[in-house]
This record gives sequence, C-alpha cells and structure tokens, in this order.
Amino acid sequence: MIPAIPQPDPLALPAPAWLLWALLLLTFFLHLIPMNLVLGGSIVGAIARVRGRRPDRPYEAELAHIVVKAMPVLISATVTFGVAALLFLQVLYGRVFFASAVVMGWWWLSVIGLLIVTYYAAYLLAMREGSLGGSATFLAWLVAAIAGVIALIYGNNMTLMLKPAELVGLYAADGRGVQLNLVDRVLLPRHLHMVLGAIAVSGLAIAVLGVVRLKRDEAFGQWAVRYGAFICTAATVVNIFAGLWWLAALPREVLLKFMGGDMRAMGELLAGILLTLTGAGHTVLAVTAKRPGVMVTISAAALLAGIALMLLTRDAIRRFTLELAGYQPVNWVAPQWGPVAIFFVLLVAAIGIVVWMTRALATAKPGTQVP
Ligand code: HEM
Repeated sequence: MIPAIPQPDPLALPAPAWLLWALLLLTFFLHLIPMNLVLGGSIVGAIARVRGRRPDRPYEAELAHIVVKAMPVLISATVTFGVAALLFLQVLYGRVFFASAVVMGWWWLSVIGLLIVTYYAAYLLAMREGSLGGSATFLAWLVAAIAGVIALIYGNNMTLMLKPAELVGLYAADGRGVQLNLVDRVLLPRHLHMVLGAIAVSGLAIAVLGVVRLKRDEAFGQWAVRYGAFICTAATVVNIFAGLWWLAALPREVLLKFMGGDMRAMGELLAGILLTLTGAGHTVLAVTAKRPGVMVTISAAALLAGIALMLLTRDAIRRFTLELAGYQPVNWVAPQWGPVAIFFVLLVAAIGIVVWMTRALATAKPGTQVP
C-alpha cells in the first residue's frame, strides 16, 4: 500500500525547525504586504478608473493613475518575497506541498504564464496609459482578474496539501495534473477572506497616501483619507463574516482548538480580530481628526500587527490539520550556519533596498528620473 504521506527525504534540516518556521512567517508577511496591494489595489484601481470617467470625480481618475504607476514595482516585490517564502515552505512541508502541487500540476505551472501576462499588462498601463483609450480599463481589469486567479490557485494548493490522505486517491483517479480543490468547503471562505483583507490593506494604503499628500494638495489628501477609510472599514466589516465562515468550515477538531482547546491559538485569533478592527476603526477617526497623520499611523501599526497575528492563526490551522492527518515534521537537524548567515545579510540588504526604492518613488517629482 502507498503511504498517504511520503517518507522524509534522507536529508537533515539545514537550520533548527523553529528558525525555519520563523523565517517562513517573516518572509510570508513580507510577501503578503505587496501581494495585498496588488490583489486589492488592482480591484480598487479598476473601480476608480471606471468611476473616475465622470468629470465630477477627478480624484478617482487620479487614484487610478497612481495605482497603475505603482503596480509594476508591487508585482516585483510580491514575486521576490514569494520566492523567499517558498524556500522555507519547501523545507518544512515539502512532502505534502509537492504532492499536492503534482495533483494540480498544470494549474500550478500556469502561475508563471499568468504572471508574465500580468507583468506585460501592468507595464503597458504604466507606460502608455494616456494613449491606450478604452483598452486601459480592460487592462486594469485584466490585472485584477489574473491576480485573483493566481491567489485562487495558491489557495487551492495551500488547502489541498492539508489533506495528504486524499492525495494518493486523487492522483490515482487522474494523474494528468489538472485537478483543483474546488469542492473543499474551506476554499471559498478562505479565498474571500484573503481578497477582502487585501482590499482593506489597500484602503489603508490610500489613507496613508492621503496623509502624505495633505501638504502638497490638501483637497486630494483629505479625499484620499476619506476614501481609504471607507474602503478599509467596509472591507474589514464584511471580512468578519468571511472569517467566521472560514472558521465554521474547518474540520471540527481544528475548530475546537480555537474554541478553548488550545489557549494560545485562541488568544492569537482574538487578538488578531481586535487589532484589525482597531486598525480599521482608526482610519475612520482620521477623517475628522485634527492630526489625521497620527490616527493613520496608529491604524497602520494596529492593522499590520493584526495581520501578523492572523498569519499565526493561518499557520496554526495548517499545523493542527496536518497533525490530525498524521504528519510528522522532520526532526533531524544539521545546521549550516554559513548559508543561514548569508541569507540573513542578503535579506536585510533586500529589505533596505526595497525601503529605499519605495521612498525614492514616493518622493520623486512627476517627470523626474529616480536615481
Ligand atoms: C500576483 C501574484 C501573487 C498573488 C496574488 C499571490 C497570492 C497569494 C495568496 C492569496 C496566498 C495565500 C493562499 C492561502 O493561504 O489560501 C499566497 C501564498 C503564498 N505565496 Fe503568493 N501570490 C502571488 C505570487 C507568488 C509568487 C510568484 C510566489 C513564489 C514564487 C508566491 C509564493 C507564495 C507562498 C510560498 C505562499 C504560501 C506561504 C505559506 O503557506 O506559508 N506567491 N499567495
């Protein structure tokens, strides 16, 4: 009989499991921020483009323009940090992750082609926006749709890998690599939760943009704080229901862990909910505050901390579900500190360069060359 979970590779972990786990969460967090701005920002930008066609909505047209200018950089950051997360995911969960990637092989590989199309569409928009006419709206929706499909393909793999017992049967039934995990009742609420979270983060980013612009263009700045606050709060409120739906769809034993069965997991979930609500609430306070910058800063800090806790909850769901399936993590460790040190140095340098690049782009005057 074929075992449901493949045997571990005869290779030791290159660093202690806790360190690899921490780096997976850190790099996934770094992936998540630009990914949210691509996934949510492309939807908000496409809607703003359609609404901004009316002459009485010039700020929405301006926002749509800012979104397309930022998109190529955001897609690059998403991909770069995604690759880093993939490294650690493979080391810790390769046995189940690769098995599910094989079952949905063509879908998984299609991400590369989809990304190339998104890149072309985003660059075309950023460089030829003025001369594209009606095609600009089509391209803006194309970027949003493809980002949504890529997220759904990732969601399929992240949920399919949690069911190792079913993978052998699925592969035996059809080994062409064309299956998805669409019948899983967790998939839809999980995807919805991801997309709504991405829209909320994009709303926060628009509020931050508003605060940055207040001095240069007060009317646009105030509008952007209001618009961003509305988007962030509306998406977060709806997301409470998507989150509850995701929880309710979890296997009973996993759900019970969050209902007091595991106090740490329950505490992280509750703190995550409180912090994200606090974050969204403070964007609303920023609309009428004398110093909106302070409120938006509190909002950003609370929302980012809330997202970090939500990532712990997502990780706990994976851990609990795989434990139930009988998955044993590899516990043979032979640390290779040299490569680990090189990784740290390069990671710090990469984060520094991304921060520098973002600042340079944000402060560049229109029409000037970024150094
Ligand atoms: C526009 C492009 C992308 C979008 C919209 C996107 C979106 C997402 C989403 C929504 C998830 C969470 C899925 C879930 O848990 O249900 C995810 C996870 C992940 N993504 Fe991306 N992604 C993109 C590109 C990439 C690329 C190019 C890579 C790497 C080559 C990557 C690496 C990862 C990894 C490793 C995870 C899982 C991390 C973990 O489970 O700990 N992503 N992505």
